[in-house]
Amino acid sequence: MARQGRPLPKIVALLNQKGGVGKTTSTANLGAAFSRLGKRVLLIDLDPQSNLSMHFGVEAEPTQPSVYDLLVSDEIDAASVIVHARDGLDFMPAVTELALVEGELAQRPDMQRTLERAVAPVAGNYDLILLDCPPSLGVLSVNALTMADEVFVPMLAHYLALRGLEKLLETVHMVSQGLNPRLRVTGVLLCQHEQQSLHGRAVVDEIAAQLARYEGTGLPWDGCAILQPPVRRNIKLAEAPSFGQTIFDYAPQCPGAGDYMQIALHQVERWWPTPVEPAATEPAQAPKPRAKKSKPQTAGAPTQDAPAAGA
Ligand SMILES: Nc1ncnc2c1ncn2[C@@H]1O[C@H](COP(=O)(O)OP(=O)(O)OP(=O)(O)O)[C@@H](O)[C@H]1O
Ligand SMILES: [Mg+2]
Repeated sequence: MARQGRPLPKIVALLNQKGGVGKTTSTANLGAAFSRLGKRVLLIDLDPQSNLSMHFGVEAEPTQPSVYDLLVSDEIDAASVIVHARDGLDFMPAVTELALVEGELAQRPDMQRTLERAVAPVAGNYDLILLDCPPSLGVLSVNALTMADEVFVPMLAHYLALRGLEKLLETVHMVSQGLNPRLRVTGVLLCQHEQQSLHGRAVVDEIAAQLARYEGTGLPWDGCAILQPPVRRNIKLAEAPSFGQTIFDYAPQCPGAGDYMQIALHQVERWWPTPVEPAATEPAQAPKPRAKKSKPQTAGAPTQDAPAAGA
């Protein structure tokens, strides 16, 4: 059950129906970054390829129920699906059978809400839930959108990266008009950005300009921006899961770790802004007198380039 008095967790779906764009890499490493920032994080693997667990090097027991069991059986309780990965970081693993879920859920009248309902008993134990979606817009992704507050769209930093996203935005629009009116697409998560090249920087500008066109439309992606900073191409991010590690375990000083941590820091500021300290009531202390007299100016008139005083 949700703890008394705790606010609901922030729920974010990482969604792009294109394969290989960085959804799982970003879910695992952003999750790890948030947990290192003191947030209690739950990651849910909604992809039958079940790649997410590779990032944590934690073997699930053979008897461990998965997201598949959680979705198809009313007997499974959410707590039994949770695997503890790191301090403050839990996940719910997927299995290949998850590919069958579409057919099995089709019998249920409210199949789009199955995930939300099943996770509800544990949701209140977390500050943040990240949903690693499969590369499709089927029933699993719709279940993710139905329970999410926000969508991050991971994409490769290429020209025309936004092409083909019409279907994704259409699906978000549909869900936001019925099942989940609070749903918003708030961030494009650029992966494999090539910061050094002119081309890489031009791609970022191009995508930002395209997103700006939605401003003021009132659509669920009105105000969507590139999450900062774009995540640079970094081989360490590709290597880490083969060692069962997040980027913060494997190479905490590498650019990939820095980029994901910066994104997490910006989101923490946005989602959980620190309350502003009330203004001090006592008068501010007078500045202390300078210990030393400032050095006398060396001889010679100031040059014409010297900035004017007070500039
Ligand atoms: N910034 C990066 N630098 C280098 N390699 C990366 C980066 N981000 C992701 N990769 C690699 O790109 C590949 C695809 O990433 P990932 O599996 O996260 O994509 P995905 O969108 O989850 O794919 P799928 O749609 O198949 O689930 C992986 O081999 C991953 O290690
Ligand atoms: Mg994936």
